[in-house]
Amino acid sequence: MPDAQTVLSVKHWTDRLFSFRVTRPASLRFRSGEFVMIGLMGDNGKPLLRAYSIASPSWDEELEFYSIKVQDGPLTSKLQHIQPGDEVILRPKPVGTLVHDALLPGKRIWFFATGTGIAPFASLLRDPQTYEDYDEVIITHTCREVGELQYGKELIDQIRSDEMLAEFLGEENLKKLKYYPTTTREESPKMGRITDLLRSGEAYKDLGVEPICPENDRAMICGNLAFNLELKEMLEEMGLEEGANSDPKQYVVEKAFLD
Ligand code: A2P
Repeated sequence: MPDAQTVLSVKHWTDRLFSFRVTRPASLRFRSGEFVMIGLMGDNGKPLLRAYSIASPSWDEELEFYSIKVQDGPLTSKLQHIQPGDEVILRPKPVGTLVHDALLPGKRIWFFATGTGIAPFASLLRDPQTYEDYDEVIITHTCREVGELQYGKELIDQIRSDEMLAEFLGEENLKKLKYYPTTTREESPKMGRITDLLRSGEAYKDLGVEPICPENDRAMICGNLAFNLELKEMLEEMGLEEGANSDPKQYVVEKAFLD
């Protein structure tokens, strides 16, 4: 099979979410936040591929992905059953807009995620550049239920408590990191959509930070379509403009993949 990589481990988080790690092609270079096409050989003998954000940082020897499971989804109905030793197809052509190159320098960076949209930020939050470029790094994650926050919680725990990672990213740098998880359909310490929490000012108060402004703030958005559109509109109203690789500005947006 061309572009085959071997599955190294699989972890199921909920009945709708799983993550997996695969071997990294020796030639693959990518920027934290980018995605690649991943998939399996279809029954018709043609590859069935979808865009997956790389969740691991660019310095990692392995590649990590975080995926939804859709029972009748063409790809994820099958992909959710992969086991260590199995092969997946991985096209080694990374692309994407959620990269530092697409943003102008700023003081504070916001990573706004819903659901599996946290994947590209799992990569960026383990990239030293994120902390070198900004004085403050804020990751918000909104999910329906508490169990869906677990992947992000463990990621943040790992960043804060893994000695080698903390040393690599810089103990001082990690003080810049603020994590703001919220749920919308199950009781948790902080409930509500991040969009509403920003609008009411509650999120700023909880985080102890000043409201978003175009001079200081940069943002990356990755979640479901309605969320992306709503937050994009809010940021535009605040005076931020959408950037691209070739034209860096104040924020960038990308849709989390749904099978
Ligand atoms: P809600 O439960 O109020 O719809 P999904 O699993 O459907 O992709 O949603 C993931 C999270 O994104 C849910 O917590 C959902 O909240 C939230 N969400 C959906 N649409 C929006 C939106 N337009 N703005 C903010 N959050 C949203």
